[in-house]
Amino acid sequence: MSTTFTLDTATSRANPTPAPMKRLTVPAIQRRKFEGQTGEPLVMLTAYTARQAQLLDPHCDMLLVGDSLGQVIYGLPSTLPVTLDMMIAHGAAVVRGSYHSLVIIDMPFGSYEASPQQAFASASRIMAETGAAAVKLEGGQAMAETIAFLSQRGIPVMAHVGLTPQAVNALGGYGARGKSQQEHAKIIADARAVADAGAFAMVLEGVMEELADALTASVDVPVIGIGASARCDGQVLVTEDMLGMFERVPRFVKRFENIAETIDSAAARYAADVRARAFPTDDQVYRPKK
Ligand code: KIV
Repeated sequence: MSTTFTLDTATSRANPTPAPMKRLTVPAIQRRKFEGQTGEPLVMLTAYTARQAQLLDPHCDMLLVGDSLGQVIYGLPSTLPVTLDMMIAHGAAVVRGSYHSLVIIDMPFGSYEASPQQAFASASRIMAETGAAAVKLEGGQAMAETIAFLSQRGIPVMAHVGLTPQAVNALGGYGARGKSQQEHAKIIADARAVADAGAFAMVLEGVMEELADALTASVDVPVIGIGASARCDGQVLVTEDMLGMFERVPRFVKRFENIAETIDSAAARYAADVRARAFPTDDQVYRPKK
């Protein structure tokens, strides 16, 4: 069953949506770098729900349904327990809530690493069941064969290099990468390998600024930074981080709002009204019409 129909605004709480715009495409995103247009950087944010997608869509070029949803939405300790079914459910919601941005869906840990064939089976499910235009997967040289396999079969792939959270156990934590010369060279080699394999773009996460600058200049596909450099071809943040949903603010996050305070204050006022029987009022109850 296709899940790519638009939001039914009669039955959902969502506001009426604007007339559908033409969605940005993978080649259009790719051309931005090729034609030197990433002088105006690409804008990407994570989205996990339909309503969130509706609100972010007009401001973004790309919406990423990140496996960070495991931590952000489900309170999991890492992204490792996230399943393909979770990614598909949230991915379909984000596609339904957006009209303009290119939607990219993370392939979860364990759904693609074993072989290109396994990756194709997972990615084709994601594409068919969500209507998204592309998938993202973590890894550099080791994933090049898989990226080529998917790209040659009509599945656009965004790669993810540098700090790769699904490899947290191997990396020993979430610290910035590329401090040693050896690591610097490995990350540049990873980026070149995924670009050569056909990735249409890549996320570069948690690396030294100097490395991010060199890497961005050394590949001809857009490099979307997070904890990288202002000179990357674009930027991405986890939306809840930039909204101030959590107490912990990683160094690479800029808070553009303090949504946790807003929610806390609204919940406190609601609770006080309920306890004082000040809610509901006459305006919020049903009575027979006179
Ligand atoms: O899962 C995610 O949200 C991501 C971004 C942080 C790039 O991969």
